[in-house]
Amino acid sequence: MREVAVIGIGVTKFGELWDKSYRELAIEAGLLAMKDAKISSEDIDAMYLGNMSAGRLVEQEHVGALAADYAGLVTRNVPSTRIEAADASGGLAFRHGYLAVASGMHDIVVVGGAEKMTDANDMQVVETLASSSDVEWEAFFGGTLPALFAMMARRHMHEYGTTKAQLASVAVKNHKHGMKNPNAQFRNEIKVDAVVKATMVADPLGLFDCSPLSDGAAAVILCPLDKAKKYTDKPVKVIGSGQASDMLALHDRKSLTSISSTVAAAKRAFEQAKKKPSDIDVAELHDSYTIAEIISIEDLGFSKPGEAAKGVENGEFSLGGRLPINTSGGLKARGHPLGATGVAQVVEIVHQLRGTAGERQVKDAKVGLTHNLGGTGGTAVVHIFERA
Ligand code: COA
Repeated sequence: MREVAVIGIGVTKFGELWDKSYRELAIEAGLLAMKDAKISSEDIDAMYLGNMSAGRLVEQEHVGALAADYAGLVTRNVPSTRIEAADASGGLAFRHGYLAVASGMHDIVVVGGAEKMTDANDMQVVETLASSSDVEWEAFFGGTLPALFAMMARRHMHEYGTTKAQLASVAVKNHKHGMKNPNAQFRNEIKVDAVVKATMVADPLGLFDCSPLSDGAAAVILCPLDKAKKYTDKPVKVIGSGQASDMLALHDRKSLTSISSTVAAAKRAFEQAKKKPSDIDVAELHDSYTIAEIISIEDLGFSKPGEAAKGVENGEFSLGGRLPINTSGGLKARGHPLGATGVAQVVEIVHQLRGTAGERQVKDAKVGLTHNLGGTGGTAVVHIFERA
C-alpha cells in the first residue's frame, strides 16, 4: 500500500441555498479543491462522490456521471463512482478514494460529497432520513431518525444519569464553534436554557438537539505522498482508515448507549495509524443529534462510558479544552448536507493540520480524526490524519 496525502480542499457554504442547484454545488466544491491543489481537470484520474439521496431529494440519480460530466472529466472518460451509505456517504467516498490511491490504481483522485435537501418538502425529507434505518422494522412504525436517537438518549440518561442540560451543552459548544466558521449554516450563540426549552422534536430531543436540513458540498484531492510536494508545501497524510457495520435496527443491538460500528472502525483506524485516542489533537465527530456526539466521544475512547456528557459540560471538548471536537461547528451548526458531511469533516481537519483554520485554529494541531455515521450507526467510518 502506498502512503496517501490530501493536497487540496474545497467546501461551499452550507445552509438553505435557494439559488444553487445540486450540480452547481458539487462543481463549486470541486473547483475550489482543484484550485487549492493547483491542478486542472486534465490531472484527475478518478472521482468518488458521496451522496445519500439525490434520487428522492432532487429527483436525479446517476450523480457520479453528472458530476464527471459537469467537471469536464468525460472528454477523457474518467471513471466516476457514486458512494451511498446514508449520511456516511461522504466519509465512505473518502475511504474509497484513499484505497484507490493507496492501492496504486490511481494517482490523482477527487473525492466529493454533495446533497441538496431544502428543495424537497418536509415529508419527503423525513421519509428519506428514516430510510437510513431498517424501514420495515423501524420507519414503518414511526421510527423517524430523531425518534431513534431519542431512544438512545433516554437509555443513556437511564444508565449514566446524563441530563438534558448536558445534552444541550453539545449544541451550545458546536454553535459557539460555528460562529467562527464563515461557511457554517448557523453562526449564532445559543444558551443551555434555550436548548432545553426548545420545541420538542422527539422527547428528550428538542429542535436545537438536532442537526438541520442543509444544502452544500465539499471536495478533497488525494495523491500518493511521495508526489504531494509537487502540489503543496502542506500535505496532510492519511495514516488510518477504518470502516465497520452494525445491526441496522436498534432492537437487534446489544446496547443502545454504544455504537459497535464506531468502536470497530476506530480500532481499525487507530491500529493502522499506530496511534491511540490520547494522540489526537482535534476531531470532527458525527453530531447529527447531541446524543450522537456524546456516544461517539465514548466509543472513540476520548472518555470513559458515561463520562462524555460531563466532559462536554466542563469544556473539555471546546476550543481551548483538552481535545477540541467539532471546531467547524459540527453537523449541528456547520450544517448537515448528508453526503457532503464526511468530506467536509476532512476539509476541517486538513485546515487544522495545515494551520489555516483561522479563528478556530487549535494551537499546534498535528494529528486529527474524522468520524462519520450512517443513520443510527449501521455504518461508521473513521479516518486519522497527520501533518506531513
Ligand atoms: N438547529 C437550529 N435551528 C434550526 C434547526 C436546527 N436543527 N432546524 C431548524 N432551525 C431553525 C430554522 O432556521 C428556522 O429559523 P427561522 O424561523 O429563524 O428561519 C426555525 O428553526 C424553524 O425551521 P423549520 O425549517 O421550520 O424547522 P423544521 O421544524 O422543518 O425542522 C427539524 C426541524 C429538527 C425537524 C429538522 O431540522 C430535522 O429533521 N433535523 C434532523 C436532520 C437529520 O435527521 N439528519 C440526519 C441525521 S442521521
